[in-house]
Amino acid sequence: MSFSFNQNNTMKIDLIKDRYPEKKALILPLLWLAQKQESYIREDAMQYISEFTQMPYMHVYSVATFYTMFRLQKPEKRVIEVCRTLSCELNGSEEIKKHLENHYSDAFEIIEVECMGACSGAPMCTLDGKYLENLTPGKIDEVLDAN
Ligand code: FES
Repeated sequence: MSFSFNQNNTMKIDLIKDRYPEKKALILPLLWLAQKQESYIREDAMQYISEFTQMPYMHVYSVATFYTMFRLQKPEKRVIEVCRTLSCELNGSEEIKKHLENHYSDAFEIIEVECMGACSGAPMCTLDGKYLENLTPGKIDEVLDAN
């Protein structure tokens, strides 16, 4: 099976592609969309992006492997990313991470990440890419029980 973007993502690409005067600059948003679509970035998705942007495959691969937010392996569990940067750290991200590790590590892969630009909602994390903000251990329990 070769990679292609689904209809929803194809429409998103049509909307954003004119914002990038150089096709090379589309690599990041396309990698991001590919990951959101498949939960990780497949090799044939990088090939597709290479052809779409007319950039060498190795360039696309080097971008995908440089940024820690991109995954090249299919996650075995659902993913929770916990921000560990300053605002979140000062507002209790360590407590959030320990709570997650102590209660949810069987069902979720828990990953520490750098600032995701939601500092006003610190401490925050993402669940399958969806932002959860102003967290407390109790709020996490509510959210994960509902999911
Ligand atoms: S410091 Fe956590 S989102 Fe910015």
